[in-house]
Amino acid sequence: MEYGKFPAYRPRRMRNGEVPRQFIRETELSAKDFIYPLFVKPGEGCRDEVPSMPGVYQLSLDMLMPEIEELLACGVKSVLLFGLPAHKDPLGTEAYDDHGIVQEACRIIRAQAPEMYIITDVCLCEYTDHGHCGPLDEAGNVVNDEALKLLAAEAVSHARAGAHMVAPSDMMDGRVGYIRAALDEAGFQDVPIMAYSTKYASGFYGPFRDAADSAPSFGDRRAYQMDPANAREGVRESAYDIAEGADLVMVKPALSYLDVIYRVKSELQFPTVAYNVSGEYSMVKAAAANDWIDERRVVLELLTSIKRAGADMIITYHAKEAARWLAE
Ligand code: PBG
Repeated sequence: MEYGKFPAYRPRRMRNGEVPRQFIRETELSAKDFIYPLFVKPGEGCRDEVPSMPGVYQLSLDMLMPEIEELLACGVKSVLLFGLPAHKDPLGTEAYDDHGIVQEACRIIRAQAPEMYIITDVCLCEYTDHGHCGPLDEAGNVVNDEALKLLAAEAVSHARAGAHMVAPSDMMDGRVGYIRAALDEAGFQDVPIMAYSTKYASGFYGPFRDAADSAPSFGDRRAYQMDPANAREGVRESAYDIAEGADLVMVKPALSYLDVIYRVKSELQFPTVAYNVSGEYSMVKAAAANDWIDERRVVLELLTSIKRAGADMIITYHAKEAARWLAE
C-alpha cells in the first residue's frame, strides 16, 4: 500500500449515514426558534386568506383562539401581532387606543392561552390613513420626535393589555430609548424590547402591505428605512439600539441579508432575530404551487441558512409547517 497517494481527509466518511451526519451537524433548527406573525382585524367570523400569502390569514378576534391552539399544538410558543384597525386617521389614533384591535387580541390570548408568548409590532403605518410610520409635516416627511410620543403611547398601551414584549418597527431615530423610558415610567420595567434595528427599505415587504393594508399612499419608506447597499451601517443601527436599551436586535429581511445577520451577530455578540419576510415567503409558495421546487426541502434549507448565519430566532410565516415537518 502506497501511503500519501490518496487524499488523507475524507469528509464523505462522516456523511455516510444519518447518525454520523447528526454527530457533526452544526446548526439545529427547532420549533422553539420560531415566532409566528398574526394579523387581527375587526369583524366576526373572518378568516380571510391573504391572496399573495397562501396559508396566511387575517383573523377576527373570535377566530383567534383556534389559530393560537394550532400553533401551541405544533410547538410554536410565540406570536407577533399586527393589527388592521377599523378606522385610520393622520395620527394613527387606534394604535394607542386601549381598546384597539391588538390590545383586545392581547387580552384574549392572555386569558385563554397564558402559555403563548405575545410580542406586538409597534408601528403607525397600519393605523395612519397615509400609510407612513408616523405623523407628517407639510412636505410629507415623517416628524421623528412627534412619532416617538405616539409610538411610546402605543407600546405602553400594548403592555397594559398584556403584551409580553414589544417590537418597534418604525425606524424612527431614538425610539428604543424613548419607548424604554415610557415603559419603565408606566411600571413595565420587565417588558423587553425587540427592536427592528437593521431594517432595510425592501421590495420584499410587498405582500405584507396587502396583509396589513399598510402600503404608503404616496412615496416610499426610504427616508427612514435603510439602504439595501449598506452593511456597516446595518451593524451601527443595531449598536445604537443596544445602547438605547434593546433586549433583542433584528435584521430584516433575512435572505438577502444573511451577511448582515452574520456581521450583526459576530460583531455585537447580542441576541439577534431575523425576519423572514412576506415576499420571501410568497416566492417559495408560488414556486411550490407550480411544483417547481420541493417546498419542504426548500423551506427547511432556507430557515437553516438563516440560523447558520447567526440568527437566534426567526420570525417566519413558515413557522407552523416547518414546526410540523421538524416533529416528524
Ligand atoms: C411595519 C412593518 C412592515 C413589516 C413588518 N412591520 C412593513 C414595512 O415596513 O413596510 C414587513 C413584514 C413582512 O414583509 O413580512 N412597519
